[in-house]
Amino acid sequence: MISLSPNAGWLEDQLGRLAAFNDAPELGGVTREVFTPTYGRSVEHVAALMEDAGLVARLDAFGNLFGRWEVEEDAPVVLTGSHIDTTLNAGRYDGVVGVLGAIEAVRILRANGFRPRRPIDVVAFAGEEPRFGIGCLGSRALVGELSRSDLDELEDRDGITLAAAMLSSGLDPDRIQEAALPPDSISAMVELHVEQGALLERRGVQVGIVERIAAPHDLSIVIEGEARHSGSTPMDLRHDALLGAAEAVVALERVTLASLSATTVGTVGSLEAQPGAINIIAGRVRLLVDIRDSDMTARSAVSQAFLADLGGICARRGLTLSVETLADDESLACAPAIVTALRDAASRHGVPAIDMISGAYHDAMIVGRHFPAGMIFAPSNRGISHSPEEYTEIGDLLPAISVLASALAELTR
Ligand code: HGY
Ligand code: MN
Ligand code: MN
Repeated sequence: MISLSPNAGWLEDQLGRLAAFNDAPELGGVTREVFTPTYGRSVEHVAALMEDAGLVARLDAFGNLFGRWEVEEDAPVVLTGSHIDTTLNAGRYDGVVGVLGAIEAVRILRANGFRPRRPIDVVAFAGEEPRFGIGCLGSRALVGELSRSDLDELEDRDGITLAAAMLSSGLDPDRIQEAALPPDSISAMVELHVEQGALLERRGVQVGIVERIAAPHDLSIVIEGEARHSGSTPMDLRHDALLGAAEAVVALERVTLASLSATTVGTVGSLEAQPGAINIIAGRVRLLVDIRDSDMTARSAVSQAFLADLGGICARRGLTLSVETLADDESLACAPAIVTALRDAASRHGVPAIDMISGAYHDAMIVGRHFPAGMIFAPSNRGISHSPEEYTEIGDLLPAISVLASALAELTR
């Protein structure tokens, strides 16, 4: 039985230290995008924490940071961790809790004199957030789903390719295939994460055991019309791309609300109109669309209905339409063995836990396509995430970390 409880003071201190690696503190949240200099410094900081915890730190060819608890036995590893890159003006818990919590879980096991019979790898995946249009880049590289050409094709909002960003971080894009693990190299993966929703808080429970992870269908849509003078162009002669986009945004909400599944969500997170002057009718608009569900039938029905509506809107308004798929991932059913290990660990600790679905995607969704993977959640205050308001009481993190430690012990006996 793992007796020691996690060190709340260390967690609190390290959450604050990691939050300080921030490219836009003036906005109130944390911005630490992958392959930026700030991100690079945060990776060095976490590598030092891994070494302090007795782990051997290394970067793989994609920039995923691993801290290994080495043992004599040469056996498939148990992987645990998450990510430390953030999306824009985000919180300080998303991803970071899973990496710090995994380091703390290892420290607890070592302090308890536990000796695993297989290596444990704590991981901080690079690029879980979609700076380059698609998320979970590091885990996709790990399972061999990221090709060398992807690195040249994926670009961020400033047109910087993933390959160029890797080079600026001292990584060689031509070595990407070295990051892919052999098929039998992971025996289990467990990712700790904050829920980013409000179910645990509503139910007054501190631990969630994830049964299924919802997946995104992400699109980059360009609508083109005619940029013309806003003063001298009569309303009936216009092909206003921004009006087409406005109808599209409302259409997405309508078809999502009509979904047969209560868990389908649809979002237009970004809308850029060009040329963008007050006196020119918008000739071109780019929208970034995110449609998700754990129910894949419902999600594809919503995507199809949305794209059909979009085609009708553009035809009626004399606009042209181009649609690029950024991500079209399958939702993941977490491995029953990992779900059971987490449930058993929670009951060993007398910690109430509920089974749940993750509305957010995670690296476990990608790793879980190839190896047994599962997730454990800690509560999010008011369910808020991807916002400076993201918050979890330190005391609410501790039970999930204890359960993680206990499950890791079980999985490496
Ligand atoms: O968007 C997501 O679900 C994840 O937080 N990147
Ligand atoms: Mn996130
Ligand atoms: Mn995350």
